[in-house]
Amino acid sequence: MFYDSIENKHGLKHDPYKALITPRPIGWISTVSKDGVANIAPYSFFNAVGERPHYVVFSSSEMKDSLRNVEETGEFTFSLATWDLRYEMNTTSAAVPHGVDEYPIAGLTAAPSKLVKPPRVKESPAAFECRHWKTIELPPAAPHHRGTYSVVFGLVVGIHIDDTFVKDGIVDTGAMRPIARLGYMDYAVVTPETVFTINRPEVDKDGRVIPASVAAE
Ligand SMILES: Cc1cc2nc3c(=O)[nH]c(=O)nc-3n(C[C@H](O)[C@H](O)[C@H](O)COP(=O)(O)O)c2cc1C
Repeated sequence: MFYDSIENKHGLKHDPYKALITPRPIGWISTVSKDGVANIAPYSFFNAVGERPHYVVFSSSEMKDSLRNVEETGEFTFSLATWDLRYEMNTTSAAVPHGVDEYPIAGLTAAPSKLVKPPRVKESPAAFECRHWKTIELPPAAPHHRGTYSVVFGLVVGIHIDDTFVKDGIVDTGAMRPIARLGYMDYAVVTPETVFTINRPEVDKDGRVIPASVAAE
């Protein structure tokens, strides 16, 4: 099948878009309001967009507490959502009123950050401290469409890792069991069994590409 994705005429039961751009990492975003109240919510329109320097983005479908707090205070944290924390993560997506701290509602512990005010999830094996760079409002796809997304860019200024997941200088991502968002209400989990390694291809002196599968033999 093919369909016009501007008018989104897919003819299916549900929009398949998010089921096809997958798995999406979950940005579990913590902020504080200008009055100092902590806030946490999951954002699956989230990713790393640069390595040196480290930049991450999350994207808000409307003016939500996370976006408002980042705009007002200039800081946020990202905590890694894991299999063990899947229900807590989901609880923090509840649409509670502005100014309500979701940490106690979800039974989470707010651990202090080192360089920014927003806390991070103590129970999570990894967290980033981020400073807001800018927010870009995405234009609608057609003039008669309403509503659009605000993409928040943050520079990562500090990284916490639970040392028990560092082995021989390598982070054991599979052992952390990070979860990711698929389409519909589905999720995926990374485990040690689902992690695989492929080295980058090599190029020989004549410019020929040696695929990693061949180089490994
Ligand atoms: C796994 C998951 C991913 C989500 N991703 C997004 C997202 O990328 N953008 C968005 O606007 N809302 C997303 N939501 C919904 C928000 O988490 C929800 O609207 C929440 O109440 C926002 O909280 P806040 O107002 O405290 O920022 C997601 C919810 C879940 C459960």
